[in-house]
Amino acid sequence: MPNYDITNLKLASSGKKRIEWADNDMPVLKQIRKKWNKTKPLKGVKTSSCMHVTCETANLMRTLKAGGADVFLCASNPLSTQDDVAASLVKDYGIKVHARRGEDKKTYFKHLESAIKHQPQITMDDGADLLSLLHTKYKKQAFTIKGSMEETTTGVIRLKALEQQEKLMVPIIAVNDARTKNLFDNRYGTGQSTLDGIIRATDILIAGKNIVVAGYGWCGRGFAMRARGMGANVIITEVDSIKAIEATMDGFRVMTMNEAAPIGDLFCTLTGDIHVVDIHHFKKMRDGAIVCNSGHFDVELNIKGLKKIAQKIRKKVRNFTDEYTLKNGKRIFVLADGRLINLAAAEGHPASVMDMSFSTQALTAEYINKNYKKFRNKVYNVPEEIEEWIAKSKLKSMNINIDTLTPEQKKYLASWEIGT
Ligand code: ADE
Repeated sequence: MPNYDITNLKLASSGKKRIEWADNDMPVLKQIRKKWNKTKPLKGVKTSSCMHVTCETANLMRTLKAGGADVFLCASNPLSTQDDVAASLVKDYGIKVHARRGEDKKTYFKHLESAIKHQPQITMDDGADLLSLLHTKYKKQAFTIKGSMEETTTGVIRLKALEQQEKLMVPIIAVNDARTKNLFDNRYGTGQSTLDGIIRATDILIAGKNIVVAGYGWCGRGFAMRARGMGANVIITEVDSIKAIEATMDGFRVMTMNEAAPIGDLFCTLTGDIHVVDIHHFKKMRDGAIVCNSGHFDVELNIKGLKKIAQKIRKKVRNFTDEYTLKNGKRIFVLADGRLINLAAAEGHPASVMDMSFSTQALTAEYINKNYKKFRNKVYNVPEEIEEWIAKSKLKSMNINIDTLTPEQKKYLASWEIGT
């Protein structure tokens, strides 16, 4: 048995069924795993991943192991761990997992420290907490690392800040910035799973509701699109002028959070920034307003501020739903303590989009292991060939054929002579 720190090993059989179910919808990753079972491109490589411990992540861990890696997994969020999946990974797949759903901050960081003590040569982060710890308390450990991958917009922003300050100690590949990741996972994954989380937590009817979406990046627009599809009147708030015009021309109302606060029935933040819904916004909201977050960290809603202005707090009026009553008598419902609603109250993005994200991760791990000697301590993009291969394989798995350029078309595209 590998070393582990999980909630209950006895949950393994339920976890195994869910891992296998997700695997049915991850054909590209399965194809990589099948090949790696024979070719072992990660033979003897130690990997540490700090990611949401879900059945989709489990299939990535199985793939790394099939490639010959010595695999360690800890959680990238205290509320997203699926305990049965963690149990099955340990018991059925021999993976070192240190993650317990609902773990406190101390345990969360203890698990991250264990991931660093595994002495990884390749790391995978979802939010950059592992690399942040490496750049503070465990600087000496950086020398073992060939390369690190980052899975989120938030994490890439943090790592680019390190790069800009010339403090980055390892090469990074920004997996989040691959089109095979963000166009699908951030947009369609977040769109569906955020609605799923909100509905599981509240059981509200979406049709006819005024839904305020903070942020019109790929995640925000995915959620806005799906909420509109279910009949909501969607309002967008933005700080970026171009994105605000895009949202307007996509047919959404755009306004400030101050203007939206008294109108919204439900607010969802997907910005990656802090206190996007702040005390003065809460004070303006109507009775019964629901607020939640689908951005990576639980900083987007100022919950500490809300606690200060609340006269009464009733925890768990439903699963994942707390009621805050303000001095003006109005009630505000906060979902999942302001943590990622899609992973706390639902199961994260569906396997079919994670298939592309995690195939990108797997092939990038192989790429790092082959090419790390050429890297400097910079943030790199995923190579175009990896994205091309994944896109082609995904289309093939969906039985979709596309056209190819004829020689005449290729020549035309390469020429400048032919004009009006
Ligand atoms: N991030 C969002 N959805 C996820 C999932 N299903 N598994 C792992 N990470 C995720």
